Amino acid sequence: MKANLLKEYQLRVCCIGAGYVGGPTMVVIANHCPDILVNVVDIDQRKIDGWNCKDFKNLPVYEKGLESLLRKTRNKNLFFSNNVSEQISKADLIFICVNTPTKKNGVGAGKASDLKWIELCARQIAKYAKTHTIVVEKSTVPVKTAEVIEKILNQELINSNKTFSVLSNPEFLAEGSAIKDLENPQRVLIGGKDKKSLDLLSSIYSRWVEPKKIITTNLWSSELSKLTANAFLAQKISSINSITSLCEKTGAEINEVANAIGTDPRIGKEFLSAGPGFGGSCFKKDILNLSYLCEYYGLKEVADYWYGVLKINIWQQKRISNLIIDKLNGTVSDKKIAILGFSFKADTNDTRESPAIDICLNLLEEGANLAIHDPKVETHQIKKEFNERNYNESSKWIYSSNINEVINQSYAVILITEWAIYKQLKWKELVKTMIKPAWIFDTRMVINEVELIDANINYWRIGNKINSSSSNII
Ligand code: NAD
Ligand code: UGA
Repeated sequence: MKANLLKEYQLRVCCIGAGYVGGPTMVVIANHCPDILVNVVDIDQRKIDGWNCKDFKNLPVYEKGLESLLRKTRNKNLFFSNNVSEQISKADLIFICVNTPTKKNGVGAGKASDLKWIELCARQIAKYAKTHTIVVEKSTVPVKTAEVIEKILNQELINSNKTFSVLSNPEFLAEGSAIKDLENPQRVLIGGKDKKSLDLLSSIYSRWVEPKKIITTNLWSSELSKLTANAFLAQKISSINSITSLCEKTGAEINEVANAIGTDPRIGKEFLSAGPGFGGSCFKKDILNLSYLCEYYGLKEVADYWYGVLKINIWQQKRISNLIIDKLNGTVSDKKIAILGFSFKADTNDTRESPAIDICLNLLEEGANLAIHDPKVETHQIKKEFNERNYNESSKWIYSSNINEVINQSYAVILITEWAIYKQLKWKELVKTMIKPAWIFDTRMVINEVELIDANINYWRIGNKINSSSSNII
């Protein structure tokens, strides 16, 4: 029945937005559905050029497994272009995968989602679609956004052959494991009213996802489930991070606490890794958005509850910078400090809302000289993040792809991202090149403590008592 539906449609899919979600998701769909034609469009020509790059070396997104799937599908049933209007007009089904950042100006600035790009997509679809088109909201949006999209689309129905059906199909992939998450999702959530469209979209996913994992709901439950899922995940991180400071004061160890509480399946082991605070493009904006929605509906207590998750996150980043300054005798002015890791988590080149940004800026404001290393992030991206926060001084920091160079002659090393290569560093040797008394601040607790003791260095590991016993030795 579902297979017949696909045949009847001879499906042409268009995806608007070739970013972290649109690109990988369409690569996986194209790979599992060779009989479906997938066109990914974006207004950003550099991104499209990146996806089309000949040697696959300048892909805009770094994800394990992405390149090999792209090699199998690109220019076969998967195409990238900037022909937005043309591909909309040819599509049976359109995924909207555009950005939905926090509003910078106007009503709700700093909290509400900016739906400018979603609206623009809806207007373009309304204008250029030719016949019946299924419009799938994949971007994360405030609950009731489908109503806005429907209103815009319905304006075009008068005197035309066009019809539209709007579905919500939020994406739950995490960066760094995007391909694995898309290949084997925990669930696929589809919300909508029109049974035929729901069945069609389900039939695409059911090519590789077990039917019991495909959940269908009404539109609003689907939209709200996405925001709620991110809020719960972020809340779990803020909860464990809030306990790190108490561990540091009392002698309890955060990993032991996390392990002890995580064995209770009602709490669960996942998402209990303490760190410098969550980063990434979504948790912050989605919590702000959820909190704003609650305020909009007059639910101030609920808004405050979720905003608290964000407040702890901001506090955690600030407390780490303050602690570093304090341990370096209250001043980092003109001291070289090595930063290991700038992406918001390991295995991605994404730096959006990375905790590294604020930690670095706090230290730069105090006059430190930073040497920054990251295996996948480069100078221009770091510069962009600093400039966006109005820090334009370029003489106080450098990027280097050479870890030894970054650490050499530094007073302190701050490990911010948990890249696997940092776990293999030989501290005994590296510490010899540092200025004494030297410090290591491990915000992710990835460095083996035995190595640090062996290296005879002062160190702080998040959620553990400070070890500065060696300060009088070196
Ligand atoms: P992104 O910024 O990486 O990509 C969005 C792309 O859309 C950009 O390349 C932009 O140029 C393009 N775009 C915007 N308006 C357009 C238009 N009118 N026509 C054509 N292209 C247009 O964003 P992302 O990280 O892929 O996130 C997209 C959405 O998915 C957001 O709502 C986000 O919250 C959600 N999401 C993201 C992730 C993630 O891990 N990044 C995971 C789940 C959900
Ligand atoms: C998150 C969710 O995990 C995805 O399900 C969701 O689809 C996505 O947001 C989204 O909507 O954008 P992502 O931000 O890519 O995915 O990555 P996470 O693995 O969730 O990590 C987010 C941040 O939390 C990172 O800075 C990470 O280092 C931090 N984190 C995560 C911790 O500090 N501790 C943990 O235990 C887990």
